[in-house]
Amino acid sequence: MSRISYLNGKYVEHNSAMLHIDDRAIQFADSVYEVILFHKNRLIDGVEHWLRLSSSLAKLSMQMPYLATEFNEIAHKLFTLNNIETGSIYIQVTRGVSPRNQLIPKKISQTVIMTVIATTLPQLPDKINKAMIEPDIRWQMCDVKSTGLLIGSLYKQKAVDNGFDDVIMQRNNIITECCFSNLFIVKNNIILTHPTDNFILAGITRATLIKLAAQLSLTTKETKFEYNELINADEVFSTSTTTFVRPIHMIDDSVINHGKNGQITQKLFYAYHEYINK
Ligand code: PDD
Repeated sequence: MSRISYLNGKYVEHNSAMLHIDDRAIQFADSVYEVILFHKNRLIDGVEHWLRLSSSLAKLSMQMPYLATEFNEIAHKLFTLNNIETGSIYIQVTRGVSPRNQLIPKKISQTVIMTVIATTLPQLPDKINKAMIEPDIRWQMCDVKSTGLLIGSLYKQKAVDNGFDDVIMQRNNIITECCFSNLFIVKNNIILTHPTDNFILAGITRATLIKLAAQLSLTTKETKFEYNELINADEVFSTSTTTFVRPIHMIDDSVINHGKNGQITQKLFYAYHEYINK
């Protein structure tokens, strides 16, 4: 069966879906994106993802090309056309096509791309998951889900090339997040995570996890923390749409929780599974 994607109002064969070479996404990374999980015939936290898309666009003076209901309709149709029951959808909105010019053109129509892939739901790792620390040299608008993701991609590759799984970033001695996920630590049964500001992406999984933690009578503090608190934490985990709740067992050469999946991490992992299976 062929793979079908969505491009500017049309459902097209994936391999023949082409962008114009003058798209501002190519010239200036002038575009934003979302990744949403689809399971049991619904988009998980779809409303929140469309709101964040709208907020990312607004921060770059762009508008939502479609209503959330229209986005939903296209998403459902794509999963049906591709015969996918559990998967993720990638949505990218660019400012549009215009001959290269630093000034932002006024009346161009946005490019909208949507692709789906089948996925299996993540499981808790049965191996040691290692992260290395790198300086957070990204721009200062990390709250925008921009497609300018080169630092994250270079860091992810650096991690793997050096025998690690992920990179945790640090800016001015403050731990911010991982290159493609948010970061949490647990100390004395209190869960800590960087507050939502312009230095991290306000993860949708992060927000849901904070709600689930409260339902489990666990306390979460959105507060800044430093490297020493990170490596001396009782538990460390990351969260994202595609990885759910992922324990981190080793940071540089410091072992966390004797290299075991922490209790609170596991509780939250199972609570999240239950949440998406409701
Ligand atoms: N990444 N922080 C960064 C820098 C991210 O790229 C992501 C998501 C998150 C977690 O956000 P959410 O919980 O809404 O997925 C945090 C996606 C999954 C990606 O780029 O593939």
